[in-house]
Amino acid sequence: MKRVTVPAIRRRKAGAEACGEPLVMLTAYTVRMAQLLDPHCDMLLVGDSLGQVIYGLPSTVPVTLEMMAAHGAAVVRGSYHALVVIDMPFGSYEGSPEQAFASASRLLKETGAAAVKMEGGEAMADTVRFLTERGIPVMGHVGLTPQAVNMLGGYGARGRSEAEAKKIVGDATAVAQAGAFSVVIEGVVEPIAVEITQAVDCPTIGIGASAQCDGQVLVAEDMLGLFERTPRFVKKFDDMAGRISAAVGQYASDVRSRAFPGEEQIYVPKN
Ligand code: KIV
Ligand code: NA
Repeated sequence: MKRVTVPAIRRRKAGAEACGEPLVMLTAYTVRMAQLLDPHCDMLLVGDSLGQVIYGLPSTVPVTLEMMAAHGAAVVRGSYHALVVIDMPFGSYEGSPEQAFASASRLLKETGAAAVKMEGGEAMADTVRFLTERGIPVMGHVGLTPQAVNMLGGYGARGRSEAEAKKIVGDATAVAQAGAFSVVIEGVVEPIAVEITQAVDCPTIGIGASAQCDGQVLVAEDMLGLFERTPRFVKKFDDMAGRISAAVGQYASDVRSRAFPGEEQIYVPKN
């Protein structure tokens, strides 16, 4: 099976092509998760949420280009169908279009991924254009942008006031017009996500947005129930934390009672 391409994703804009079926995207940070998610997904996102999920950092702000490159390479190695998109970490692209090109080209060279994602709207539009005109597909990310936590003061939903709503729609339109092949809309009141989806000509990918977006993304560990605390927009499709606890509890108990290892797990000498 040939890997999904950026133009193929672009063509999935609702209305543009026959199917109109929403795009399926999940985060992946490791090779085994990539292998398991790949057959089900159109896109895999190596999100900078790995800062919290994998490294226990307080936000995505401390995440480095090295971390994104290492995990990005693992996800590309573990997948052959989905388009792999890698987050540009905080501080690696905002300084100038040239800085962004250097960081993004490094990510693509070192991982084999086909596209990067960057947070920001109007302020990043020139950078989106600079990269796309030079061969680097960019996915935008507007609304709740976690790298701006120090400006926003938290992770609450965005766009509750009319001024903020207008700003977010303007941000999405700006990155789309600058050439973004798709835009993530995160943590906004629903009508804004609908308005953006109708306004831009590339697929919108919602997270805490709307079922009317052209696709959806979630952090895989969130939807699998690996975390206790999850935001409103996460639906838990499993309780992996509970199942891991139960399995590990059984292992501990079997070790302590010498029930493990049993007959089947030990090597017997040949004679
Ligand atoms: O880092 C991430 O996981 C993301 C998605 C939640 C969109 O940016
Ligand atoms: Na991210």
